[in-house]
Parts: sequence; structure tokens; C-alpha cells
Amino acid sequence: EPQELVDAFEARVAADEFIEPKDWMPEAYRKTLVRQISQHAHSEIVGMLPEGNWITRAPSLRRKAILLAKVQDEAGHGLYLYCAAETLGTSREEMIEALHSGKAKYSTIFNYPTLTWADIAAIGWLVDGAAIMNQVPLQRTSYGPYARAMVRVCKEESFHQRQGYEAMTVLAQGTEEQKRMAQDALNRWWWPSLMMFGPPDDKSPNTERSMRWRIKRETNDELRQKFVDITVPQAEFLGLTVPDEDLAWNEEKGGYDFGDIDWEEFYAVVRGEGPVAKERMKARRDAWEQNAWVREAADAHEAKKRAAAAA
Ligand code: ACO
Repeated sequence: EPQELVDAFEARVAADEFIEPKDWMPEAYRKTLVRQISQHAHSEIVGMLPEGNWITRAPSLRRKAILLAKVQDEAGHGLYLYCAAETLGTSREEMIEALHSGKAKYSTIFNYPTLTWADIAAIGWLVDGAAIMNQVPLQRTSYGPYARAMVRVCKEESFHQRQGYEAMTVLAQGTEEQKRMAQDALNRWWWPSLMMFGPPDDKSPNTERSMRWRIKRETNDELRQKFVDITVPQAEFLGLTVPDEDLAWNEEKGGYDFGDIDWEEFYAVVRGEGPVAKERMKARRDAWEQNAWVREAADAHEAKKRAAAAA
């Protein structure tokens, strides 16, 4: 790649300018963005499954309406993100094929089952809470279309987090059985939520370069620490116990120390060995195949309109 183009690109990024689809960019920058944005899109789409599972079983009409809206928002987030990735010259079909063949990753968090209604509350509180922590800085990511998609995603995500915390509050202040459910959900979702931020910085192959290119604005460990610091007091307010014996306030660093994450589990889930990974991928592939008629009908309609316009 011509050095003067690389230098000019690096200077623009360092000056906090947005890079736009038609601008020159290093091939590795383009590739990193396609990887991260498509992984992010797939996560939104696969992320509809654990919650979609509870729409028919939501405990009230209000909860059902909220859950329906939330799952629909996630479909929307997936679509903005696929569009953002398409501006880099990759097609929607290629990205979806990569997901369905197991080549593309999606967030580890969606490979865990949702066993009770409290899991839906915990997902809103913890999983969407972790997602916002990661996504707020991405509103200033260096690639314009990704940054702009994140603005709307973050607004909706913040509603998701709040509704989850509110649902959790109701359970935590409810009957003994409800409190037990809330605690059990926290026990199961806490560690997988911390894993969402990715491997520790010293084991993260992409962080250094993505920080330099301002694709990432904060590192995996920085975001994980912020998440712990914000979430622990929320758990205390609920009267719930974070399942970590090593959790302790560290006055000097002005944050919590926390226990070791089970990275073996993380890497196993990344490799596709998560508790419900097979079910998730099967659900996506089935949806794609069984709804092929919708794509065909849309194409036929488009062809008819084009023929009519030409006539
Ligand atoms: N789940 C699955 N794979 C992960 C996870 C995770 N939680 N964390 C890291 N990885 C993968 C990375 O994709 C990378 O794999 P690859 O190089 O083969 O693609 C590898 O592990 C090493 O990780 P990093 O070098 O740290 O990768 P990266 O710099 O991309 O950082 C991160 C990972 C923080 C997830 C980043 O990609 C990101 O911010 N993505 C956008 C947010 C996102 O995808 N959120 C999805 C969940 S939130 C939601 O959908 C509601």
C-alpha cells in the first residue's frame, strides 16, 4: 500500500475524522471492520433467540409488549449493522453464509439458555448493560457508518437495560421464590456477561491496532472494569449477591477487584461449544431456509415493478 496514502489515513484517524465508505483505507482496516461489524450484527440477530423464546410466556401483557418491542429492536440493530458492513464492499449473503457455516463469530453470551423468566430480566440488566458499556464508545468509532448506526442502537439499548433492571427489581422485592429466581439468574449470567468484553488485553490480538485506528476507543479490560464498577452497586440495591468471593472495593484504584474469569470456558464457547450453541445455529439456518419464499416473493415483486416501469 502506498506509504503516503497510509500516512494520510493515519493522520485523519489521529485527528478524529470519520472515515467514509469511498475514502481510501488500508485493506486491514477494512477487514477488521467487516469482521467486527458483521460479528456485531450476527450477535444482534442470534440475540433475538434466547428472549424470543419467552414472548409467549411473559408474565403479563405489559411485559409481553415490552419484550416484543425489544426483540424487534434487536432485529433492527442487526439490519443497520449489516448495512454498515455492506458499505465496506461485502454482501449480506456473504455475511449470512459465514454465520451459517460457522465461520463467523457471534457473541458468546447468546450460547447460554434462558431457563426462567428471571433470566429475561437478568439479560436486560446485565447483557444489555454490558452491550451499552461497549457500544457508547463505538458512537465515536472511526468508521462513519458504524458510528452513526451506534447512535440509535445505544438509545434503544439503554431502554433495554432499564426495563431489565426494573423487571429485576420487581423480582428481587417479590416473594421468596421470586427472589430465589432473581439470585439464580444473577449467578448464571454474571460471569458470561463479563466474558462479553472479550479476552484480557494482553491476550487480545486485535486490541492494540484497533485502538490505534480508533475502531475501538476503550480496551476490553477497561470496559469490563467499568461494567463491574457500575453493576455491583446495582446488585447491592437489589439485595442480591454477586457470585464472586474475591469481589472487593479497591480504594486506591477507585474500582472493584474481582475474581478470575474462567477463560477456558470462554474459549470453548467461542469455538462453538456453548451450552445451546447447536440449537442457536440450527434455529438461524432453519429460519433462513424456511423463509426463502419471502426473499423470492420480494425479488419477484421487484422484477414485476421494474418490468412495469420499463414498459
Ligand atoms: N464472543 C465471541 N467472540 C469474541 C468475544 C465474545 N464475547 N470476544 C472476543 N471475541 C473474539 C474476537 O472476535 C476475536 O476473534 P477473531 O479475530 O477471530 O474475529 C477474538 O475473540 C479475539 O478478541 P479481540 O482481539 O479482543 O477482538 P476484538 O478487538 O474484535 O474485540 C469485541 C472483541 C470487544 C467484542 C469487539 O469486537 C467489539 O467491541 N465488537 C462490537 C460489539 C459486539 O460485537 N457486541 C456483541 C454483543 S452485544 C449485543 O449484541 C447485544
